[in-house]
Amino acid sequence: MTLTQVSGSYVRRMENDEQTVRALIQRSHRGPEDLTLTTGHPRPAPGPGDYLVRVGAAGVNFADVMQARGTYGGGPRAPYVAGFEGAGEIVGAGPDVARPLPPGTHVVGTGPGAFAQYMTMPAAGVLPVPSGWSDAAALGLVLNWATALAALKPLGEVRAGETVLVHAAAGGVGQAAVRLARHYGARVIATASPAKHDAVEALGADAVLDARRPDLAAEVTRLTGGVDLVLESVGRATFRASLSVARPFTGRVVVFGAASGDASLTTHDLVFTHQVQVKGLHIGALAAAAPDRYRSLLAEIEDLVARGVYPPGTPRVRPLAEGPAVLRQLAAGLTRGKHALDPWR
Ligand SMILES: NC(=O)c1ccc[n+]([C@@H]2O[C@H](COP(=O)([O-])OP(=O)(O)OC[C@H]3O[C@@H](n4cnc5c(N)ncnc54)[C@H](OP(=O)(O)O)[C@@H]3O)[C@@H](O)[C@H]2O)c1
Repeated sequence: MTLTQVSGSYVRRMENDEQTVRALIQRSHRGPEDLTLTTGHPRPAPGPGDYLVRVGAAGVNFADVMQARGTYGGGPRAPYVAGFEGAGEIVGAGPDVARPLPPGTHVVGTGPGAFAQYMTMPAAGVLPVPSGWSDAAALGLVLNWATALAALKPLGEVRAGETVLVHAAAGGVGQAAVRLARHYGARVIATASPAKHDAVEALGADAVLDARRPDLAAEVTRLTGGVDLVLESVGRATFRASLSVARPFTGRVVVFGAASGDASLTTHDLVFTHQVQVKGLHIGALAAAAPDRYRSLLAEIEDLVARGVYPPGTPRVRPLAEGPAVLRQLAAGLTRGKHALDPWR
């Protein structure tokens, strides 16, 4: 490999036709309708502490839908290169990367502009793609799995024998959460759309319910007698039920998403109706505010990979041009599992 090296930073020398990239650009906040494929977009340059990565596969997440609608807190303002999760080969590094991985290493991480042939990623947050895995198989490691693990362990304090309620259990984070909760010895009650129940049962959930049934809270309480931990990512449609099924005083409700819209909670609710522990989670905020805790989550994920608890992912990979359609399906709740885009197809 030919490298251009300047004061610790480098970028692999590339052909002229690689100075620009194919990318999906979000042009407004009207949603995935205004996400368009562009050629000739300038290739990004790695800033201090960043790797430049040739993207092999980009992960699609519900947060992409929120960013496209302009509802993601602190999200990018249009126009911007969409996507924020990618896996691929390190081809460059900015200055000030501590203990840099060698060029050519495949990594998975997050950073701006993943729906493109090249992206940058803060080096501190990446993990090497596990040996023998494809880039696509590693998607989810630092996002879906780290979020599920943070919700279950440091925040949720799950213990063997406890009962955990996982909403949107057929989704990217949900499937990871079901697997992990089972691994830690919990009994898992899950919710998902009826067409997706088979996928959740296959992961070992003890019961799967339709979150839209009107007696959801009564049914969960009938099955469990009270839930020790709720992983709440659906928001408006499930939040009341989540609060009512959590055991008073000892029950924890970890809130990390609101796919159906925002819900509200008052001090009056907490004092007189739902005496439960409500905890908020944003994995990027955790990585920024508590980097040591985040690194220990990543170390635990590497250990889960090594022990085979975390198998290679099997996302459905589609060409970059299909990104807007994938986002529309995700927004409508029509997907199951992890979805990915190949920027070179
Ligand atoms: N805080 C964090 O750091 C963090 C990190 C990653 C993800 N998240 C959140 O975790 C959740 C899951 O993310 P993901 O990327 O893995 O997505 P996902 O679960 O694959 O997709 C979202 C799922 O939510 C369910 N849903 C329920 N009501 C919905 C509605 N009104 N509209 C659309 N979907 C609805 C659908 O499943 P059913 O059809 O089965 O109901 C849908 O498939 C999202 O809320 C996301 O924002 C948060």
